[in-house]
Amino acid sequence: MAVNLKGRSFLSIMDFTPQEVRYLLDLAHDLKAKKRAGIRTDSLKGKNIVLLFEKTSTRTRCAFEVAAMDEGAGVTFLDSKSSQMGKKESLADTAKVLGRFYDGIEYRGYDQKVVEDLRTYAGVPVWNGLTDVDHPTQALADIMTVEEYVHKPLSEVKLAFCGDTRNNVAYCLMYICAKLGIHYVGFGPKELAPAQDVLDRCLDAAKETGATFTISDDAAVLDGADVLYTDIWASMGEEDKIPERVRLLTPFRVTAELAEKTHNPNYIFLHCLPSFHDFNTTMARDCREKGYDIREVTDDVFLSTHSHCFDEAENRMHTIKAVMVATIGNV
Ligand code: CP
Ligand code: NVA
Repeated sequence: MAVNLKGRSFLSIMDFTPQEVRYLLDLAHDLKAKKRAGIRTDSLKGKNIVLLFEKTSTRTRCAFEVAAMDEGAGVTFLDSKSSQMGKKESLADTAKVLGRFYDGIEYRGYDQKVVEDLRTYAGVPVWNGLTDVDHPTQALADIMTVEEYVHKPLSEVKLAFCGDTRNNVAYCLMYICAKLGIHYVGFGPKELAPAQDVLDRCLDAAKETGATFTISDDAAVLDGADVLYTDIWASMGEEDKIPERVRLLTPFRVTAELAEKTHNPNYIFLHCLPSFHDFNTTMARDCREKGYDIREVTDDVFLSTHSHCFDEAENRMHTIKAVMVATIGNV
């Protein structure tokens, strides 16, 4: 049956069938090729979208804005300081108002229940731009990048996430691996292992696709990995946990020495960004002065030819465009 995602929200990869996820990836590859060729499709002409951000962003905000403008849509950006949402007006009322003005709503914040409530009350598609437990548009861009640089079928790909294996990015990768039959490895400390219910849902979806899940603190699990992936050790809102995270996660820092454990000369390195890979940020410097090296990856990997982080960042725009075109587009 042909895939039709019109009117659907995009809150988690787990809400979509493998065929629907495949459709979004194919559309993203097609839209990227069209942009490169200078072909305009104006699929969102006459539409307006609103971007709600309760946490900061560079890539996600800009990806939504550029994707919308490329396709002819109008964009409004609201952050928590400049709107009434949650303070003087309930979420339900805010959603009902925005649903009258806009054709789609993006939300980035803390609680997954907020995007779920927005979907309930808005009456238009809602797109999850990151919560504490999920980041589905990131996962699409990541697998799009894998398809560009790992030259084998996804069912043969081994993707290893190193570090805080229970954060939002690790979870969205688990979900997309489950849906697409990719072999997922979570390499991190037991204290930060994925929640059992998340793993159970992935294992359930994997029955249909052949995906496998290995969670371990033993670097031997990296053997044969095609993709090494990491993310910052303390996500937005968790900055007070830095001392504990440095203690737990230093053995899982992605270095050239660790990458050798893949025994794969063609492995690629991915990172959702932003990354602490050197000390050229105030946060990395301030932490170092306090005795904490917060680098989750070192430059011998981050700046190496294995690294495709910036291709991945570009693909945020193409995949977000695909999500908007598929759910509210004119074609
Ligand atoms: N990867 C990502 O979501 O980046 P931003 O926080 O800059 O949006
Ligand atoms: N885990 C990170 C991802 C940032 C894109 C965070 O939530 O801060």
